[in-house]
Amino acid sequence: MNIFKMSVYFLTLLFAILIAFVKASNETQSGPSSNHPTFEIDYKGNRFLKDGKKFQYVSGSIHYFRSTEEQWEDLLQKCRLAGLNTISTYVAWNLHQPTSEEKFNYEGNLNLFKFIEIAQKNNLLVILRPGPYIDSERDMGGLPVWLLWEKPDMKLRTSDLEYSYFVSRWFDELLPKLQPYLYENGGPIIMVQVENEYGSYACDKEYTGFLRDVIRFHLGQNVVLFSTDGAADGMVKCGSVPEVYPTVDFGTESPASINSSFAVQRKYAPSGPLINSEFYPGWIDHWQKPHSKVSTEAVTTALDAMLAIGGNVNIYIFHGGTSFGFTNGANIDGGMYDPSPTSYDFDAPLSEAGDPTEKYFGIKKVIAKYMPVPKENPSVSPKGAYGKVSLKKLTGLFLPEFLTLFGGIRTHSTLPKSFEELQVAYGFVLYQVKVNFVPSDPAVLTAKQLKDRAYIYVDHEFQGILSRQESIYSIPIMARKGQTISLLVENQGRVCYGSQINENRGPGTNVTLGSNVLRNWEIFPLGELDGKKLTKYSLGLKSNLIDNYESPLTEMKNRGSGSFYVGNFTLPSLNGSVLDTFVRLDGFNKGMVWINGFNLGRYWPVVGPQVTLYLPAPLLKPHPASNTFLVFELERAPDACLASISLLGGDNGGCFINLTDIHVLDLPTPFKTSKPLFKKN
Ligand SMILES: *[C@@H]1O[C@H](CO)[C@@H](O)[C@H](O)[C@H]1NC(C)=O
Ligand SMILES: *[C@@H]1O[C@H](CO)[C@@H](O)[C@H](O)[C@H]1NC(C)=O
Ligand SMILES: *[C@@H]1O[C@H](CO)[C@@H](O)[C@H](O)[C@H]1NC(C)=O
Ligand SMILES: *[C@@H]1O[C@H](CO)[C@@H](O)[C@H](O)[C@H]1NC(C)=O
Ligand SMILES: *[C@@H]1O[C@H](CO)[C@@H](O)[C@H](O)[C@H]1NC(C)=O
Ligand SMILES: *[C@@H]1O[C@H](CO)[C@@H](O)[C@H](O)[C@H]1NC(C)=O
Repeated sequence: MNIFKMSVYFLTLLFAILIAFVKASNETQSGPSSNHPTFEIDYKGNRFLKDGKKFQYVSGSIHYFRSTEEQWEDLLQKCRLAGLNTISTYVAWNLHQPTSEEKFNYEGNLNLFKFIEIAQKNNLLVILRPGPYIDSERDMGGLPVWLLWEKPDMKLRTSDLEYSYFVSRWFDELLPKLQPYLYENGGPIIMVQVENEYGSYACDKEYTGFLRDVIRFHLGQNVVLFSTDGAADGMVKCGSVPEVYPTVDFGTESPASINSSFAVQRKYAPSGPLINSEFYPGWIDHWQKPHSKVSTEAVTTALDAMLAIGGNVNIYIFHGGTSFGFTNGANIDGGMYDPSPTSYDFDAPLSEAGDPTEKYFGIKKVIAKYMPVPKENPSVSPKGAYGKVSLKKLTGLFLPEFLTLFGGIRTHSTLPKSFEELQVAYGFVLYQVKVNFVPSDPAVLTAKQLKDRAYIYVDHEFQGILSRQESIYSIPIMARKGQTISLLVENQGRVCYGSQINENRGPGTNVTLGSNVLRNWEIFPLGELDGKKLTKYSLGLKSNLIDNYESPLTEMKNRGSGSFYVGNFTLPSLNGSVLDTFVRLDGFNKGMVWINGFNLGRYWPVVGPQVTLYLPAPLLKPHPASNTFLVFELERAPDACLASISLLGGDNGGCFINLTDIHVLDLPTPFKTSKPLFKKN
């Protein structure tokens, strides 16, 4: 850390503390007689007071960054119609500040302020959870990846000065913008969370105290600050922060167990309202493991028990939505790496597509016992079964023109560099090396430190896959001196919870063939494969493009691994209406889908549990405009998708994706059980 950064940091801290003192000395003078809106904790009455009257919240979490901006009005209206009086959202730092520069993005579905305004318009109060760490099954728990290359040994989520500097820079940017939305200023924000389940990560009170001071500095003395931790003594002990109201989180427990969970909160908050800050009506999914489900009855029984004793509840999550693009996170389960799928449906009361479920109406019935709820009920919106979209092959991975398309600068390096050393946040990096010795036949290729998955090629011929998820770190290959070995490495999502959030991606430095360490690599930082650029590129191509670098025989052997496919599609007229739909990719194995340049996310229908990808209507252009799909298949495409099949006179009509009105999220998976993680969100 340089002197400048350090002094900025200390000045910020000093100033924050100074202001806090001045304000605190003022606070005692202001009485309940003031006529502006107030929201406060009533310690004597063990409840909240809103404008001096007792108040109990029933809140639902919904993340603005997991739907499109156009859907917010409808989704928030449905939250209100369920009887919720409050919503809660995380703030995703990594999306708002994509690079370490002081350039911030609030466009499109990152317009947090618009989201808050729509909530207020729908009579919903807002609980804000700005992190900076949020977990939320996001890559790196929502922390920006560039922290890892600003200072590789930075201690995330601690009072590490460099980390604190970047956090205060972000909070100095964000919080003043939120100040007008505080309840006392006429806005809907009643409470702000400090960090997130900090007690299950570390015990650095200097750090959480610093966050409290920065938040107080920007948002003043009146807004209720709170912390959230798992309902276990050790967690609340480390996660609670002086002068910040401690709360707990837990799922569908028996009434007795609910009492003992709240008892943990009581130990640290002897008086004040009972609060479950994350009540789980469903649970997280992981690829290859069964879809999580929680019964409506379990949810309504527990909710009823909590509301009956005056508890305040935030349902996590009320609408889960979608982890678009490369934004999903991963967990470590029993030492094993376990990435989350694209859908964040969570078996929540509002489905991924925003439709009310049986659980939604069950919850509404319970809330109605305790407070007035709107009479109107939302209905399930119609979905479009638009059917086949024909695809044709655009290119394979190794077309030189393609490899240079992304502006990623080709790098030479003796040993492979990590994504972070290359400053690649998400997506893919291609590593190539020429064999300059005579290997055995066969020879074992090993990448013991691989994170997370590598597709292996020898002279552009697909050999197989190394996978951290399966602990498969080596593969026998046939390679001769002079041939080129390629590893296309996929970041499947950084760890979002626990001590491994700071892991680097890549094959590791020690990639060996037999007993030889492979040296002199050529590296192509493909990154997120900008879908807009790719789509534009594909549209500029002659329609009969066949890759001339890849012989039909090689292409046949590769069966579509590392291939891009494009297809145009026009919606039926239907009076110009555009409906949500779901993308089925039967015959494809694993990859990514873009619609009109927007990255819908990862598909992996061969292992499930998620089979179809949700495609929200706002991403589609109405009739008669053309919509363009782009598919990047990593492993194997349907035979009909091979360009060489059509070259040989085969029928190319069998290469398509299917837009259906049925969402499939619970395919039987390779693993029968999903060990419950001792983890909250
Ligand atoms: C303290 O209170 C006075 C009047 O009550 C007000 O004018 C002033 O702005 C307050 N100062 C702070 C730092 O809140
Ligand atoms: C839970 O606590 C409430 C009072 O806070 C009490 O009325 C109720 O009987 C308790 N339930 C169980 C199952 O212990
Ligand atoms: C590299 O890997 C080889 C084979 O797996 C192993 O023998 C060697 O010790 C490793 N070297 C380092 C520096 O990790
Ligand atoms: C299209 O509009 C016509 C006339 O307004 C109406 O009769 C028809 O039902 C509409 N069709 C659809 C599919 O909405
Ligand atoms: C495909 O759609 C794009 C717009 O998304 C359009 O520019 C292009 O002409 C279409 N191509 C074909 C072959 O229809
Ligand atoms: C598309 O998927 C639906 C199931 O959702 C299926 O009934 C239909 O046959 C599929 N269409 C094609 C062309 O495969």
